[in-house]
Amino acid sequence: SRSINLAVIPGDGIGQEVVAEGLKVLSAVLPQDVKLETQDYDFGAKRYHATGETLTDADLAQLKRHDAILLGAIGDPSVPSGVLERGFLLKLRFAFDHHVNLRPSKLLPGVSTPLAGQPEIDFVVVREGTEGPYTGNGGTIRKGTPHEVATEVSVNTAYGVERVVRDAFARAQARPRKKLTLVHKNNVLTFAGHLWTDTFNRVAQEFPEVGTDYLHVDAATIFLVTQPERFDVIVTDNLFGDIITDLAAAVSGGIGVAASGNINPGREFPSMFEPVHGSAPDIAGQGKADPTATVLSVALLLRHLGYDAEADRIDAAVAADLTERADKPARSTSEIGDAVASRVAG
Ligand code: IPM
Ligand code: MN
Repeated sequence: SRSINLAVIPGDGIGQEVVAEGLKVLSAVLPQDVKLETQDYDFGAKRYHATGETLTDADLAQLKRHDAILLGAIGDPSVPSGVLERGFLLKLRFAFDHHVNLRPSKLLPGVSTPLAGQPEIDFVVVREGTEGPYTGNGGTIRKGTPHEVATEVSVNTAYGVERVVRDAFARAQARPRKKLTLVHKNNVLTFAGHLWTDTFNRVAQEFPEVGTDYLHVDAATIFLVTQPERFDVIVTDNLFGDIITDLAAAVSGGIGVAASGNINPGREFPSMFEPVHGSAPDIAGQGKADPTATVLSVALLLRHLGYDAEADRIDAAVAADLTERADKPARSTSEIGDAVASRVAG
């Protein structure tokens, strides 16, 4: 019989509340014959204050045994900026080789956008997740002096670029519009830009059905606002991907509905699924957080594990819930979770 052995990391702030609803929906959608086992991990600010640790090698060994990881949010104002980001989130992405950072943007009916009208937004950003300026490859000299020099080197390997570009082509090929846009800045970042562009053009030969184009990242931000419907799949590096996916979330309903997957496509390591939003300490513990982004992240998780029908049911239930939401009074975190869970249960 089938089983899912899931690591659950609620984390800080609203992470706790939204993950509970994600699990509620997951239990409701799974058929009887699928055995769901979950194990909770207490990573986050509390553990950091208690032990000084963010994520140890022993933790990684534990996590590695799971089929996938569901993460709420990690971060708290009591922890200096960068400690949990580098020590937990990025460490996990690097250790588990999450080189495909998948961030879909779909403007669902009933969801408001700051853009005029209700444009057709349905694209997915394939953000490289293990290279670029995120590798921590840099340094400072003459620190604290007026002559300080800081470098933050963007690392781009042929291997790393090709595998994420290939993944993006395969995803584009599987979508009805079959269109892939490379976003970079090859007019200025010539070394990395040419590696990306040459790799993209070479791999394109193997996907003749996929229409391709190229945009500089600055131009891409304009089109994301003025013509978001032109995008189908976007592939880009780690930092450009970080920035444009926040913009993408903003135009397609906000971070309340933005889901993401940190994916290791070869399944050598467990992939991790998380809402794009953070721990929102200002509203934590009040039942005000929208669990929709986490619920949609659960759908991505199911799709990654091959439960496509169940993922489709969650997506449909969320779409229906959002459509009806406009005419209803505001609901609490758990009320939204209950509503979606009862829809997916049929
Ligand atoms: C994200 C976040 C992270 C990133 C931070 C918290 C390290 O902004 O998941 O987009 O930059 O990747
Ligand atoms: Mn970000």
